[in-house]
Amino acid sequence: MLSRRTGWNLAGNRLAARLDAARSAGRPLLDLAESNPTRAGLAWPADALGAALSDPRIAAYDPEPRGLPAAREAVAAYLAARGHAVDPGRIVLTASTSEGYALLLKLLCDPGDEVLVPAPSYPLLDLLADLESVRLVRYPLRYDGAWHLDVPALEAAVTASTRAVVVVSPSNPTGAVLGAAEREAIDRLCAARDLALVGDEVFADTALVPPAGVLGASRALAFHLSGLSKVCGLPQVKAAWIAAGGPEAPVAAALERLEVIADAYLSISGPAQLALPRLLADRERFLGPLRARLAANRAALAAAASGAPFDALPSAGGWSAVLRIGETIDEEGLCLALLDDGVAVQPGFFYDFERAGHLVVSLLAPPDAFAAGLARVRDRVARAAAGIWDPK
Ligand SMILES: Cc1ncc(COP(=O)(O)O)c(C=O)c1O
Repeated sequence: MLSRRTGWNLAGNRLAARLDAARSAGRPLLDLAESNPTRAGLAWPADALGAALSDPRIAAYDPEPRGLPAAREAVAAYLAARGHAVDPGRIVLTASTSEGYALLLKLLCDPGDEVLVPAPSYPLLDLLADLESVRLVRYPLRYDGAWHLDVPALEAAVTASTRAVVVVSPSNPTGAVLGAAEREAIDRLCAARDLALVGDEVFADTALVPPAGVLGASRALAFHLSGLSKVCGLPQVKAAWIAAGGPEAPVAAALERLEVIADAYLSISGPAQLALPRLLADRERFLGPLRARLAANRAALAAAASGAPFDALPSAGGWSAVLRIGETIDEEGLCLALLDDGVAVQPGFFYDFERAGHLVVSLLAPPDAFAAGLARVRDRVARAAAGIWDPK
């Protein structure tokens, strides 16, 4: 009676169950898995948020499939500040970046079609693809002291069923940032093979090196995705956008259909659209403290990694960091042991690393908790590497 595409195995994993148990028992936890900025001491003051959401026009309903013009102009201004001149007519508003993916998959793919996504990358993409009956095919990011796109491997992954290539820059969890030469290579490939280029650029404002955005691609039909969830630290507002780039004719054809898809849902709320210009203009209220937090935690990680039984892999942006602990240590066992030690981290297998032996930590945690958590990780990894698993 229920669809095959929703036939997931819903038995929760052991790690999630143990984390829930620790949280509901009220056990103190150094949470290095927290990715919600509103729970990490980076929330907006309620009065500032309330003021932005209290526009008197919220009483009226003015449905606009692509989104209210003033809100799209505000997104265009944000993109211009990032170095991309985009006509507001090429922008479509959505409730979230995840929904932006869903709209693009509907636009680009029929059931069974393939979309190329990076590995490692974050797990939500699988779910979003399942929901559209689309098949994800991985292309590798390679690590050799820095993360690189493997262009020949990407090219080899293209089949007759491929419709799009997704890049996540900065990447979650590796922090890899797409360089200009890499963007050029993907742009050429997409144009030559008639594929769309989708750039998930939600973490662009945290890049430590200038990221090459997909809107700078000139040949392929390209879509930039982002939203207030990561640009302003406001996942609860539910406001995001798709911006189209590339040659005029395919962009116009795509936008015409995207508008029909968006019109079927009209999902971003009126109040969120009215608030968007003010919130986006005020984004440094979040981004300033966020960058300071990320910098402090990156420095703490570098210090903790010196002489430690793990490597902290260099990253060029984003909200997370990867620790390489070595393939001989069981990731899940280590994460469970760490929960017993009062520290939450994520195992690499959540993110599809090519090889085992990684932990992922969020850089959002308050610096004291982050440093204390890392000290316990260091201790626990050293014990696990020595084959000692019993609680201390
Ligand atoms: C790389 C990346 N893209 C998109 C999203 C989803 O963003 P949104 O809250 O706008 O759906 C996430 C959430 O963590 C993410 O890490």
